[in-house]
Amino acid sequence: QLILDTLDKEGEIKDTRTLVLPGYKDPAATHDSQIIILGALNSLSSRDMIAYTTHETVSHVLTQEGAQIALQGSHEARVWAACPKKGEGAPIPPKQLQEKVGAETAKVGQGQAFKNKWIGKEGDGLVKLVDSITDITQLQMREVDSTGTLKAGEKALAELRKRKLIAQRKGQWFSVSKGPNFSTSTAKPETDLTVDMLASGSWKTSTYKKYNFEADGIPPNGGALHPLLKVREEIRNIFLEMGFAEMPTSSFVESGFWCFDALFVPQQHPAREVQDTFYLSDPAESLPPPKEYYERVSKVHEQGGYGSTGYRAPWSHEESRKLLLRTHTTASSASMLYKLAARCRGEEDDSEEAVKREGAHAASTVPGTGKAGPDGFRPAKLFSIDRVFRNETMDATHLAEFHQVEGVVADRGLTLADLIGFMRVFFKKMGIENLRFKPAYNPYTEPSLEIFAFHPQLKKWVEVGNSGMFRPEMLEPMGFPKDVHVHGWGISLERPTMIRYGINNIRTLVGHKVSLESVERSPAVRF
Ligand code: PHE
Repeated sequence: QLILDTLDKEGEIKDTRTLVLPGYKDPAATHDSQIIILGALNSLSSRDMIAYTTHETVSHVLTQEGAQIALQGSHEARVWAACPKKGEGAPIPPKQLQEKVGAETAKVGQGQAFKNKWIGKEGDGLVKLVDSITDITQLQMREVDSTGTLKAGEKALAELRKRKLIAQRKGQWFSVSKGPNFSTSTAKPETDLTVDMLASGSWKTSTYKKYNFEADGIPPNGGALHPLLKVREEIRNIFLEMGFAEMPTSSFVESGFWCFDALFVPQQHPAREVQDTFYLSDPAESLPPPKEYYERVSKVHEQGGYGSTGYRAPWSHEESRKLLLRTHTTASSASMLYKLAARCRGEEDDSEEAVKREGAHAASTVPGTGKAGPDGFRPAKLFSIDRVFRNETMDATHLAEFHQVEGVVADRGLTLADLIGFMRVFFKKMGIENLRFKPAYNPYTEPSLEIFAFHPQLKKWVEVGNSGMFRPEMLEPMGFPKDVHVHGWGISLERPTMIRYGINNIRTLVGHKVSLESVERSPAVRF
C-alpha cells in the first residue's frame, strides 16, 4: 500500500531506500527492508500494477565481533573502563584485568589502549591516564549497522574489513513506476465471474486475474495398475512368449483329492493339517472324483504300484473328499494334467457336450501342442498365476493368501537338465541370470530343486522358487505313458514384486494399508 500510495502521490519511486516502512523511524536502507519491499514489488508487478528495475549495491554488515563492539564497546574501551583512575584506588594487576574483561579482550585491548595513551603502567598494575575517551570503533560499528556504510569512506571500511569487524554484502534496491493496471487498491483480482458480480454490476469495475497459459495443468486422475498386476503381466508375457498356454485356475476351492492325493502327498502329511490348510465346513465334502482314477490313486497310496512301494498306510476316503482352499496352484496343474492324459486313457472326448459339461477342463480344451502319437499323448506347456491360501500366522512377509506363479511342461523323455535349462531361460527373461539349484523335497516331485538367485542390491542369495520332476506315482495313475515326463515349478508373485519395488513389509503391498497414491506412482519395472 505504501508503494502504491507513494506512486500515486509522486508518480514514481526513484530509490526504494528512501521509503519509510510502516512502524519504522528510519528510511528502508537496510538489506532486510529491501527484501520486504521486493516481496511487495513482485506481488504487485505480477498483476501489472507496477513495474520495477533492480539496482545492485555493495553494503556492509557487522560480523559477530563487530556486533559485540557496537553493543559493549571496543576491546580497548572495555580495558580502559576496567582500570581505576590514576591516584584513585589500587592499580589493577594484569591477571585481575583478564578475569574482569575476559582473556581475549584483555589481550587485544591492552595494546591498543596503551597506543591511544588511555592507560598506563603503575608498579605491577594498570591505571587510566585520561578521564574520558571517544570509542571511535564502537561509533563506526553503530554507523555501519544502521547505514550499511561509513561516511569516512572506503579506506576506513577496508580497515574494518581487515580487522574482521565488518563484512561485505551484496544488496539490492529498486526504482518503481506505475504499471498498466495501476490502482491504489490492492483488492485481489477476480479469478471468476460470479452470478453476484453480474447481478450487482461489480463486474464492470473489478480487476481480473490474467490467464496464465504457462501454468501446469492438474495431473489427470487416470486408473493405475497395482504393482502385483504389473509384475503379473510381465511374467505372463514371458510365458506367452515361450509358447505356454494359460491354465484355468478359477477354482479356489478344491478337494483334498486334487490338492494332495492326486499329487501323491501322503494323507498324514503335515501340510494337510488345519494349521496349514483352510478347510470348508459348508459344504464340507466334495463331489466324487473320476471313479477309476480315484481307485488308481488310492491304490498307489495304500499299496504302491508303477515300481513304487506306496505309503502302506490305510486310505481315508474322508480325507480325500474334504473341501479346502487350495494351498498351491499345483492342484489346478494336477487336474489339467489329468485332462491332458484323457486321450492316453482312450477317452477321446472332443464332443460339444463334454466341453459343456466340463468347461475349461474338458479334454479338448487342454492346449497340447503338436500331433498326438499313437498312444494319444500330446506335449503341453502350461502356466498359471493365481491366488492360493495358507493358514499361516501373518507377519511382515506372510499373508494367509498370496499368488503363485506355476508352470508345467509335459513331453517325452524330459530330464532334469531340461528343467534346469528351462529355468535359466525363464529367469533370464526376468533379468535374473545368477542361479543356483539346491536339492529339496516335495512329495510329488523327484528330484526336487529349490532355486536361488543372487540379488545384486541385497547382495545375497534369495530363494526364488521350488521345482521338480513329477513322480511316476502321480503321472502314471493319470494314464500318461511311461516315457512322458513332466517338470514343474512354482514361484511366488509377491516376493519378486517386493524385491523389485523395495518393499519390505507385505502389508505395504497388499491389504487395507496400501496407499492408493503409491499404487498410482509405482513405475512399470523390469526385473
Ligand atoms: N507346489 C509347489 C509350492 O507350493 C511348487 C512346485 C510346483 C514345485 C510344481 C514343484 C513342481 O511351492
